[in-house]
Amino acid sequence: MESTRSRIINFLSENQDTYVSGQDISNELEISRSAIWKHMKELEKDGYVIEARPNKGYRIIESPSKVSENTLQWGLSTEWLGKSIIHKESTSSTQIIAHKLAMENAEHGTVVIANEQTAGKGRLNREWHSAKYKGIWLSLVLRPNILPNLAPQLTLLCATVLATVLKEELNLDPKIKWPNDIMLEDKKVAGILTEMQAEQDKINYIVIGIGMNVNHDMKDLPNDIQYRATSLKLQSGKEWDITKLIQSILERFESTYMEYMQNGFSTIKEIWESYGYRIGEKMHIKMFKEVKKAILVGIAEDGALLAQYEDGLVNKVFSGEIEWFSKTE
Ligand code: BTN
Repeated sequence: MESTRSRIINFLSENQDTYVSGQDISNELEISRSAIWKHMKELEKDGYVIEARPNKGYRIIESPSKVSENTLQWGLSTEWLGKSIIHKESTSSTQIIAHKLAMENAEHGTVVIANEQTAGKGRLNREWHSAKYKGIWLSLVLRPNILPNLAPQLTLLCATVLATVLKEELNLDPKIKWPNDIMLEDKKVAGILTEMQAEQDKINYIVIGIGMNVNHDMKDLPNDIQYRATSLKLQSGKEWDITKLIQSILERFESTYMEYMQNGFSTIKEIWESYGYRIGEKMHIKMFKEVKKAILVGIAEDGALLAQYEDGLVNKVFSGEIEWFSKTE
């Protein structure tokens, strides 16, 4: 059941450009004017700045900058994603908590978020540096009704969601490097880690981990990744509101996921390819110890990478790492 405070924030957020009268709030929420006033005082304690004008009403001037379960939920307009949010000030890895919750039957759409991770995990057992208050470190628990071999499509879906938020809401120019890296000007700004618990023909649950560098200055990135990593702030010169960004990602994820469940992968594939990093260029594909030269053609219906080798044959690549030739090669 949504709390009264959450409903007040949602109502004010929907009408952010105007004042909302106490009477309108009272009618909408069926509570008294004095109860509204008390809730406003509580919201101010949570970090909201709310303007109250006689004869006009209320208006949110500023939302709190600190991420918490409450600030994330207030103003979040999803139906099922993030209805249950677990927020930690600091944790080893949100993936670990998400797996534990999923095994204890956490509902589809549960979201685990931390302000800091002390042992963040990247793909291929790499470390994922997750500086305090600087980025988005979250994991989603999903229980999709699809075959396990289609799970990689969800990683690609997630990548299109992140890229679309950066493009449409932040006006940046992201690219997606297969399968899961979000790039801004040739540097990685976000990554996705998908892990699954499945039987032969049934997914028990999937945990999708999203890591995005948001308000990092150069000093906040470890020295050894500074040449290949970036943040939204480093690219745009601006600080971003992490709570609002998480809400946008969750809202867009939910609608894209519903679209995918209804209509399949073809729209996602098209969107993915429109953001595809270096499509048509020569690359090296590293698979275990073997390195092959190929041209990246696009992605297949099942989410695999399509690579054209030197003998002209087009093959699918399901896992591995790709490296590009330098532009002069
Ligand atoms: C990658 O590009 O290698 C994937 C990075 C995924 C990082 C996120 S941060 C939230 C979640 N918790 C983790 O420990 N990892 C993922």
